[in-house]
Amino acid sequence: MSSVVMTRTVTVNAAFLQEIKEVNTELWHRLEELRHRCQRPISPANCRMLVDRLSQMRDQLALHFALEEAYGYFDDPVDVAPRLSYAAENLRSEHRTLYLELTNIVDRAERLIHCEQLATLALWFGPEFLEFDQALRDHESRENELIYEAYETDIGTGD
Ligand SMILES: [Fe+2]
Repeated sequence: MSSVVMTRTVTVNAAFLQEIKEVNTELWHRLEELRHRCQRPISPANCRMLVDRLSQMRDQLALHFALEEAYGYFDDPVDVAPRLSYAAENLRSEHRTLYLELTNIVDRAERLIHCEQLATLALWFGPEFLEFDQALRDHESRENELIYEAYETDIGTGD
């Protein structure tokens, strides 16, 4: 991976970013349900259903990230504190990494289904999902911190 070169300033529109998170209840419910199921033993008979739900969640997450990037993040707005700009740039670039990680899990799970290795899948799926879930929650929590900081420094209102 090459290092990030800062050629522009990135910041957030805190109000839009917050609203995108608040209205996307379907995604959060789906995540909660998957988390609940993955925190206990998974029956091989439930694997197909779980992988279908994960695949739907991946599409919801792709839309969520696309909305955040379209309305929540800005290039070249006003002068922004370098720390905020750095955090914003990092968080925005995490979307792609998270999406690729999730796509990988879905692809590998679908391959196991295709090979009828449901017992293996049942053991593998929970820990894999929970690790991804933790990374996503960590991203969301740092993005929420950025929203609050943007409000506090008065750069996030977009007016
Ligand atoms: Fe995000």
